[in-house]
Amino acid sequence: MQKPRLILGIDTSCDETSMAIFDTASEKVLSNVISSQIALHQEYGGVVPELASREHVKNLPAVFEACLKEAGVTSDDIEAVAVTQTPGLVGCLLVGMSFGKALASRLNVPLYAVNHLEAHLFSPYIEKDIAFPFLGLVVSGGHTSFYLAKSYHDIELLGQTIDDAAGEAFDKGAKLLGLGYPGGPVVDKKSQEGDVAAYAFSRPRVKMGEQYLSFSGMKTALMQHVNAEMDRQQVSKACEFPANVVNDFCASLQNAIVETLCDKLKYFLKNSEAKRFGLSGGVAMNSLLRVKAAEVCESFKIPCDLAAPQYCTDNAAMIAYLASHQQRQEDVYSLSPIATQRINAKQLAKDHANRPAKN
Ligand code: KG4
Ligand code: ZN
Repeated sequence: MQKPRLILGIDTSCDETSMAIFDTASEKVLSNVISSQIALHQEYGGVVPELASREHVKNLPAVFEACLKEAGVTSDDIEAVAVTQTPGLVGCLLVGMSFGKALASRLNVPLYAVNHLEAHLFSPYIEKDIAFPFLGLVVSGGHTSFYLAKSYHDIELLGQTIDDAAGEAFDKGAKLLGLGYPGGPVVDKKSQEGDVAAYAFSRPRVKMGEQYLSFSGMKTALMQHVNAEMDRQQVSKACEFPANVVNDFCASLQNAIVETLCDKLKYFLKNSEAKRFGLSGGVAMNSLLRVKAAEVCESFKIPCDLAAPQYCTDNAAMIAYLASHQQRQEDVYSLSPIATQRINAKQLAKDHANRPAKN
């Protein structure tokens, strides 16, 4: 089977409807359209799964049109469809998968099912040379995991959080401070003006082993600091704090999260055969983390590959990119509406040939 030239990627795993077209010949992203639902979920303080699924249903056709237009191609130019299979919000994943299956069937092209976390892991290498083995940190709203990637197919999970993800620590922290959702970008911004030493956060130690991380204690510590500060300031809500207090809270919390991640980065660089480091996921947008991770890598004399900002938060370019490097003939996904297993490409061709004729 010849490698498909243009792959259409689809990601609907959470609150972003995204489609992208990746050119496997030039290794370039021709388009990467992301329709964010943040405004819809903001009033609830977090993602509402049922609303997110419905919004994907609404957005997909327009995102598809925009994606083709931006790439300057037509649907007939698409030679494969790649879609996020898991992990994510189940209703949201189903919407994307159904759209992907219908489209692949309509265009009579193969469908590839891609793992969302693996796609994040490899996202620093979209449009950039890759070298194995590399240590990867996927740090997002749902995950904080270190991997050793020995090839596109050989990925070892080295360690991960035992409770909250780092992005959750940003989001929950921001909520406690009355800063809205999502918390990461606003905490990042306000931290620029704050004092990192204003509030102390002890560094979490996980009894299960050095390879694990934990962030749930930070929320509790922040809550205690916020309550004490409310007494000092004689206010009843955190949103009544003066701006400098909020900035100090943000800077101290961000510093604690980044130091925790960087300590673990040092541990895995010492204890693995990694020759470089790749940082990915929504929290990889964090300005302090980008600087500090680069400093750690410099001290270990290894390259630090930061995912480009447009490929940090959820996007379909990473899905199409990974499909282009990971897909094998036997990975072609069944187009049957109910099948969830990977099937043999030859079997698929046979099924296709034997399908009932259209009326
Ligand atoms: O990868 P992503 O879009 O979705 C998941 O798969 O979770 O990541 C979203 C997460 C949110 O928790 C958000 O607060 C965080 O990424 N985030 C940031 C920044 N930008 C987004 N966290 C820290 N600093 C940022 N600048
Ligand atoms: Zn993600």
